[in-house]
Amino acid sequence: MTRAREWHLVTRPHGEPKASDFALVETEVREPDEGEILVRNDWISVDPYMRGRMNDVKSYVPPYALNEPMDGGAVGTVVASASADVPVGATVVHGLGWREYAVVSARSARAVDADAAPPQSYLGVLGMTGLTAYAGLVEVAPVQVGDVVFVSGAAGAVGSVAGQIARHLGASRVVGSAGGPDKGRKLTSDYGFDAAIDYREGDLPGQLARAAPDGIDVYFDNVGGDHLQAALGALNTHGRVALCGAISRYNDTEPAPGPDNLFLAVGKRLTLRGFIVGDHSRLMKDYVTRAAGWLRDGTLRTDETVVDGIDNAADAFLGLLRGANTGKMLVHLT
Ligand SMILES: NC(=O)c1ccc[n+]([C@@H]2O[C@H](COP(=O)([O-])OP(=O)(O)OC[C@H]3O[C@@H](n4cnc5c(N)ncnc54)[C@H](OP(=O)(O)O)[C@@H]3O)[C@@H](O)[C@H]2O)c1
Repeated sequence: MTRAREWHLVTRPHGEPKASDFALVETEVREPDEGEILVRNDWISVDPYMRGRMNDVKSYVPPYALNEPMDGGAVGTVVASASADVPVGATVVHGLGWREYAVVSARSARAVDADAAPPQSYLGVLGMTGLTAYAGLVEVAPVQVGDVVFVSGAAGAVGSVAGQIARHLGASRVVGSAGGPDKGRKLTSDYGFDAAIDYREGDLPGQLARAAPDGIDVYFDNVGGDHLQAALGALNTHGRVALCGAISRYNDTEPAPGPDNLFLAVGKRLTLRGFIVGDHSRLMKDYVTRAAGWLRDGTLRTDETVVDGIDNAADAFLGLLRGANTGKMLVHLT
C-alpha cells in the first residue's frame, strides 16, 4: 500500500483546544491481515465527546494517547478485503476515523446501504447521534403525550433530532435553546420547535419561563451548567431529565460549582438520569426504521455542516466546540 495521513494529538489541551495540539502525520498503510479490511474513509465524524478523550482521565472511554492516531466514527469504502464477510466496494461504518485509510477488523465494521441513504447519514441522524436523541427521550427521560419538552444544544446534531423526536412522541410543546438568532430561527422554521431561546442573550430562567409558561416536564440536557440550573427551576413535579452531555463545561480547567438549586429535585420528585448511547444500541433497529420513515415523509429534517479535506479535520473539531455547526459536523475526505 501507499502512504496516507492521520491526525495525532500531540499536546493535551488546557482549556479550549488549539490547532497546535494536533498534527497531521503521514504514515505507511499496511495490507489487511486475515479477517481485516482496508477502508478508504470517505467521511469522518468529529464529536464533542472527543474533547474529554484529550484529557488524561479515567472515563467510560479511554483517553487518546499522545503521538498516536486519534479514533472516532467514520464511514468509508472497502478497497481491499481479507474477510469473506465484507467485499471490496462495500460501504462500512467503523471506529477508526481521523485518518484517510484504516485497516479495520471486519467484525468491528458495520456494512450500510449507501443506496438507501447518503453514507454520511450513518454518522448522524441514522447513526450514533440520532440514536442518542431517541434513547434519551424513549428510555432515559421518557416523553409522555402532552409533555412540555426542553432541549439544549438544539441546533446541533443530537439536539435538532431530539426536538423533532419529542414531537413524534407526543410532546405538546417543544422549546429549544441555541446560540444566536440564526440558529433560533432554524429551530422554529425547520425543526418544528414551538419556541427558541438564544442563550447568548442571557437570563435563561426568564427566557425559559416565557417560552414554557406552564413549566417543562422533560429536559434533554446537552449543555449542563446554566442550562441545567434553569431547567431545574422550570421543571414540573415528576419531571425527568436526560443528562446527555455538558458541553458548556468541556473546556473547564477547574471543577465548576454544580447547580445551586439541585434541592428542587426533592420537592418536585425529579428524576435526573445520565446515559451513554452505547448502552442503548439494541434500540438501533427500531430507531432506524422509525427515523427512515420520518425522513421520507419530511417530519424529520436534518442539517450537516461539511468541512472538506483531511487537512481541515482538526479545525472542524475546534469549530464544533465553538458552535460553527448547524446539525451534524462532518469532514468529507473524497
Ligand atoms: N451521552 C451520550 O451517549 C452522547 C452521545 C452523543 C453526544 N452526546 C453529547 O450531546 C451533546 C451534543 O452533541 P452533538 O454531537 O450533537 O454536538 P453538536 O450539538 O452538534 O455540537 C456542539 C454544539 O454545542 C454548542 N455549544 C458549545 N459551547 C456551548 C456552551 N458553552 N453553551 C451552550 N452550547 C454550547 C454549540 O452550539 P451553539 O451555537 O448553540 O452554542 C455547538 O454547535 C454534547 O454534550 C455531547 O457530548 C452525548
